[in-house]
Amino acid sequence: MAGLTQGEIARKLQGEDLDKWLELWRTEQGPAKRSSLELMAAAIPFPTNSNLRVLDICCGPGDAGRAVISRFPNASVDFVDRDLFFTALCSAVNQRDGVPGRTLVRDLVDPNWHRDFAKNYDVVVAANGLHWFDMKEAAQLFRDVYELLRPNGSFLFMEPAGPEIAFAEGFGAWKRAQPSQHKSADWTKFWSSVNDLLGYDYVKELGERDDSHIDDKLSVIGWIELLRAAGFGSIDILLRDPEKVIVAAIKS
Ligand SMILES: C[S@@+](CC[C@H](N)C(=O)[O-])C[C@H]1O[C@@H](n2cnc3c(N)ncnc32)[C@H](O)[C@@H]1O
Repeated sequence: MAGLTQGEIARKLQGEDLDKWLELWRTEQGPAKRSSLELMAAAIPFPTNSNLRVLDICCGPGDAGRAVISRFPNASVDFVDRDLFFTALCSAVNQRDGVPGRTLVRDLVDPNWHRDFAKNYDVVVAANGLHWFDMKEAAQLFRDVYELLRPNGSFLFMEPAGPEIAFAEGFGAWKRAQPSQHKSADWTKFWSSVNDLLGYDYVKELGERDDSHIDDKLSVIGWIELLRAAGFGSIDILLRDPEKVIVAAIKS
């Protein structure tokens, strides 16, 4: 069966229990994600009654953008992802919950992905999406984010981070002794549910991951260097745990 359009996927989601889908994804993303997103939202340096303009890139179902809304109820959020299932789910949840803003299907590797965006966002957030890019693409995406923010706007992201080579052996041994955040059974459960809903092998159509992706290979300092190269300042590491780093920066 040929792949469905985003509109057809949206129709398949009508009548579905959207909270069940969000919960399946939450489980797939691991138990630490909720508090990590709360930390990102807590660190946004604006009064909570601000009418913030927020952009969630690689939004998936929209967890990061809606975490911002839960602290800034007057914010509006634009959500961007290339995945048709995720954008359909994100859009359905946002409509149900009255979240103001747009949900757009865009491939962030396309140099024109932000062609029709106003360049005045107060905040850009990203969760677990930037490591899908190779280094050259990520460097360009960080420059795009810089351009899209207004002066003094904030960029916050959480991404997998590896150790520097000198510390890799010991860090790896310690990490293996920590409780794992991700179970492959949860990944399978989520994506097999998507396949069942859509009626074909959606995951197969997404294609294979290739080795050029950053994945968990970039160190914390590597992420910071990407920020510095794009022009960001006031860079802070909000959290570093066995798997990921949460970083915040300001367009200076
Ligand atoms: C692990 S998911 C995280 C989703 C979401 N941020 C969250 O926290 O639930 C990674 C997301 O990055 C998106 N992504 C990866 N490469 C992309 C690209 N080139 N353009 C747009 N989205 C991309 C995927 O479609 C996927 O939704």
